[in-house]
Amino acid sequence: MTRKKIVAGNWKMNLDYQSGIKLAKKVRAAASSASDKLVIMAPPAIHLKSVADLLSDSKYLYCAAQNCHSEDSGAYTGELSVPMLKSIKVDYVILGHSERRAYFAESSEMLKAKVDQVLAHGLKPIFCCGESLAIRQSGMQNDYVANQIAQSLFHLSAKEFGKVVIAYEPIWAIGTGETASPEQAQNMHASLRKLIASKYSKAVAENCSILYGGSVKPQNASALFSQPDVDGGLVGGASLKAEDFCKIADAM
Ligand code: PGA
Repeated sequence: MTRKKIVAGNWKMNLDYQSGIKLAKKVRAAASSASDKLVIMAPPAIHLKSVADLLSDSKYLYCAAQNCHSEDSGAYTGELSVPMLKSIKVDYVILGHSERRAYFAESSEMLKAKVDQVLAHGLKPIFCCGESLAIRQSGMQNDYVANQIAQSLFHLSAKEFGKVVIAYEPIWAIGTGETASPEQAQNMHASLRKLIASKYSKAVAENCSILYGGSVKPQNASALFSQPDVDGGLVGGASLKAEDFCKIADAM
């Protein structure tokens, strides 16, 4: 099994420029350097170039954007294109975060186009999926998340799919302080890995990093990350404090 362990920090729309750079510098200074683990920071757009520069000499620290447009350029006021991200050496792009799906009406179809665009330019998508509380209570969560993955990712070749990182983020656990139990996370991750194996192959499934996101904290990170199919985390709130974020990265 060669899949990478990854902890990614999603800063969302937080921190002014100065505070963001301070945080990135602290994480860079504190993060451990095991080469089979990756630590990714996803700051807002204004920090991206500086954070990418700061991490450019590291083999295990990477920079991610929180979104991108599906076109190379054009009259799309307020948007960022993948060639722009590539030109400042951003490596990953978070796509399909539940906040983008809910507040910016991103559909599976739009996400499919964004996934293609990210891959076409040689960057890697961190593709988010996850169910609402109502879906969890109805017991349909595995089918729902499988559909999200199939609709936006299963047109990819096995080689392309191999570049995608998946982040399972149950919406009811995001920013709520309520975390999926290690068993709930493991159950979903194992079912996604099985789905990927049946679509592509066992080898592709075994190589795919599947992260858990939703109120990951220093206190619960080890229990979640010790599950066999949980390959790390996508961390929101706790990624804004260097100490907490590094503790979570160390829990991998
Ligand atoms: P949270 O956010 O860790 O604050 O719950 C996770 C995410 O939205 O990626």
